[in-house]
Amino acid sequence: MSRTSRCIRVPKQEGERVRSELKAAGSLDLRSKIGADDGCLLIPILSDGYLDYETVTAELDERECRETDYRELLDLPPDAKEALPCSYDVIGDVLIIKLSDGLLPHRQAVGEALIATVPHIRVVMADSGVKGDLRIRELEAIAGHGPSETVHRESGARLPVDPAKVYFNPRLATERARVAAAVKEGETVIDMFAGAAPFGTVICRNARPEVVYSIDLNPDAERFARESMRLNRITNLVPITGDARAAIRGLPPADRVIMNLPQSADLFLEDALKKTKAGGTIHLHRIAERSEAEALGAKLVSDMAARGLGLRIDSIRELKTYSPSMSVYVFDLIRT
Ligand SMILES: C[S@@+](CC[C@H](N)C(=O)[O-])C[C@H]1O[C@@H](n2cnc3c(N)ncnc32)[C@H](O)[C@@H]1O
Repeated sequence: MSRTSRCIRVPKQEGERVRSELKAAGSLDLRSKIGADDGCLLIPILSDGYLDYETVTAELDERECRETDYRELLDLPPDAKEALPCSYDVIGDVLIIKLSDGLLPHRQAVGEALIATVPHIRVVMADSGVKGDLRIRELEAIAGHGPSETVHRESGARLPVDPAKVYFNPRLATERARVAAAVKEGETVIDMFAGAAPFGTVICRNARPEVVYSIDLNPDAERFARESMRLNRITNLVPITGDARAAIRGLPPADRVIMNLPQSADLFLEDALKKTKAGGTIHLHRIAERSEAEALGAKLVSDMAARGLGLRIDSIRELKTYSPSMSVYVFDLIRT
């Protein structure tokens, strides 16, 4: 039997990496088998799209093991069944899912269905949202056992993290790998909003920077960054607890600055630019209306020019959907 499936076309050599990223993000559509077409894989997805890959509709073979979808195990009233999320996040052996109010009375059953169907999961946590400057999640264990602290594997690194104490987004794996691949030997890198230092750890494991400074307001972030250095045997990561604007002033000029604060990174751009060497790169993450991303890029350039700081846009990429009309973008900016 075949199913009409929304898929992305992925070159064969990138297929396994993309498949496992989609699976970790809960965006792989397990109801269909992966197909092939003209040298590319057709990977079925639950989201609207993924990165820059072309989205197509294709007839794919249906998977026989339908019980791999947790929703199939649940016997709920039709309204509740309709509201079951088709995606969730997996961080290490912790699965995090957002449930609407109507699903809360059924949360234990939902958690148990997830434990029964998603491999290598120890505990399921219901997520009631990210709060405050530290972007910390409010989590409640709904099935399984043990704490929310775990070790996430990504790009050959082990990332110790507790998503109830420090912000961590497994869906940024491709972006972290992309930035790490751009780092040249001997670079000085500053990550201004580093969380538990996943960018710094992935960079130090996969590239040869001189040093990566990882700044975060949250003291727990530094604790996990230090644990990450120990687990990955890294010596050139420098975790710093503090406000990025103040902390960056005491650091040496950088070849690369990472600004992963999608709500307000632009407010720190002047401080970042003053620390960036001529020809250096800034990766600035920002939420924007899809129709206004180009205009926002132009505004960043003109606002900084008004302050006597030169930059040009190297690229603007859409990273993920944020709301029906907005997405998170990464602006790669070059200091001139
Ligand atoms: C989106 S998260 C970063 C996540 C991390 N880059 C990753 O890849 O998982 C933003 C982080 O910025 C931190 N933060 C917010 N305001 C800050 C500030 N003024 N200075 C330094 N860190 C800040 C928060 O504590 C949070 O950990």
